[in-house]
Amino acid sequence: MNLHIKGCRLIDFRSLNDAQKRLVLEWRNHDAVRTCMLSQKIISYEEHMLYLESLWHMKDKLCYLVQKQNRGIGVIEFGNITKESAQIGLSKNPHIKGVGNLLMSLIESVACEKLHLQELQLEVLERNKHALHLYEKWGYSVTSNQEHLICMEKKLCC
Ligand SMILES: CC(C)(COP(=O)(O)OP(=O)(O)OC[C@H]1O[C@@H](n2cnc3c(N)ncnc32)[C@H](O)[C@@H]1OP(=O)(O)O)[C@@H](O)C(=O)NCCC(=O)NCCS
Repeated sequence: MNLHIKGCRLIDFRSLNDAQKRLVLEWRNHDAVRTCMLSQKIISYEEHMLYLESLWHMKDKLCYLVQKQNRGIGVIEFGNITKESAQIGLSKNPHIKGVGNLLMSLIESVACEKLHLQELQLEVLERNKHALHLYEKWGYSVTSNQEHLICMEKKLCC
């Protein structure tokens, strides 16, 4: 189901049109995004379509394309969703700047208002200083740091 929050339209990946599917894939494969992911391989259109199809069967995963004033600004994701917590991910449109704080605030709005969660977790590569700075600023604390992968969590005050 699509959402409207803070002047943004959040389009559920299960209702993307073909142009939006291609846009999300182009962003994911862009060097600036791909190199920050745990799996850095280039994803083919066919693999991407299979992934999008698989979301219909995954009850514990939600992904949204975020649009502001009809322009795509990024993607936010929730995985391993339980009654209490979820693992989050985000990435911006690689062709724009300055949307990290907005994407974080949308994540927390969805977590509180739609999913009614108490805690969010995430994983980030140790070298991704930009994302680390953002997460620390938003109150996430490190829970482990092994083999250059940092795990963080935040208790929500909804
Ligand atoms: C993480 C990401 C969403 C942040 O979006 P963004 O638009 O670049 O973020 P912003 O410009 O809003 O900056 C957020 C903060 O990081 C700071 N920042 C910018 N560049 C930085 C850098 N190189 N090192 C540290 N901090 C940096 C900004 O100053 C800002 O902090 P402030 O609000 O205190 O001024 C974006 O960089 C991205 O999509 N990266 C690729 C995918 C990714 O890394 N996802 C996370 C995987 S765990």
